[in-house]
Amino acid sequence: MAYLMTKNLSYRYEDGTKALDDVSISIEKGEFVGFLASNGGGKTTLLKTIVGLLKPKPGSVSIDNRPISEMGRPELSSKIGFVLQNPNDQLFAPTVEEDVAFGPRNQGLDEDEVVSRVQEALDLVDLQSCAKKPIHRLSFGQQKRVCIAGVLAMKPEILLLDEPTAGLDPKSESNILHVLGRLNKEQGITVVIATHMVDLMPLFLDRIYVLKEGRLVMNGTPKETFASTHTMEGVDLRLPYIARLIEELKQKDSMPFGELPLTVKDARIKLIALIPKEVFKLEPK
Ligand SMILES: Nc1ncnc2c1ncn2[C@@H]1O[C@H](COP(=O)(O)OP(=O)(O)OP(=O)(O)O)[C@@H](O)[C@H]1O
Ligand SMILES: [Mg+2]
Repeated sequence: MAYLMTKNLSYRYEDGTKALDDVSISIEKGEFVGFLASNGGGKTTLLKTIVGLLKPKPGSVSIDNRPISEMGRPELSSKIGFVLQNPNDQLFAPTVEEDVAFGPRNQGLDEDEVVSRVQEALDLVDLQSCAKKPIHRLSFGQQKRVCIAGVLAMKPEILLLDEPTAGLDPKSESNILHVLGRLNKEQGITVVIATHMVDLMPLFLDRIYVLKEGRLVMNGTPKETFASTHTMEGVDLRLPYIARLIEELKQKDSMPFGELPLTVKDARIKLIALIPKEVFKLEPK
């Protein structure tokens, strides 16, 4: 049963740029979905129409079979949490903890609950030690993590994140994706991320929508999306590097690989399987 749906969304900015063109998507409750597109592909515009910040023309968005146009802002923001691409557009309170507390306080929760939500959210993004810090003294990556904490603290049913890992160091990138993965698997939160970063995506995403110039050009599992370089042609994206390596070994060196592995773990297992046991005595763990 589709939980979050868009029907025939189109959107044109005032200057005439057509940013979305007839986009229909359908996301199940509890899915972890990615919107993948190169720069200018329409990811941010799509997320903004889903949260009601931009009004599609034509088109509609519904959650749980109810059009969002019939929901008030409080109802919509209790269902959807949106992390903007740029922290400067999202953060406004003087300190980290005040910013993260804003959402839950606005939801009318009592102060003890607000404090515990703030602690929990800052723990999740590993920023407890910065709780009292002024926002403007944080690094870009830390600000990004405060944005994510602010939305997590509201415990929404659906999390939409615009480029959540852009500008983060490798450890923070992996941490954030693991936090999102845990929220998705353990708490059943539906997670949608917009990104053009492909390497870690296969570890987390159930499904990927690929956009090009505002049009939907593909919808499938990571395995279907990254089946070969060919599937990424024309969308200005690339395969995960590990899949690219195996594809080259397959095509240029005639190594007998079937389906491309998308993660280091899968690639390792496939590579070990090709090496005669008596040579290396390796067993994949
Ligand atoms: N306020 C605006 N006015 C006019 N055109 C805009 C505006 N915002 C975005 N666009 C255009 O709409 C198209 C889609 O932009 P959008 O920001 O949705 O893409 P994106 O996939 O999020 O890109 P990025 O990866 O760079 O964040 C682009 O051609 C962009 O130039
Ligand atoms: Mg964007």
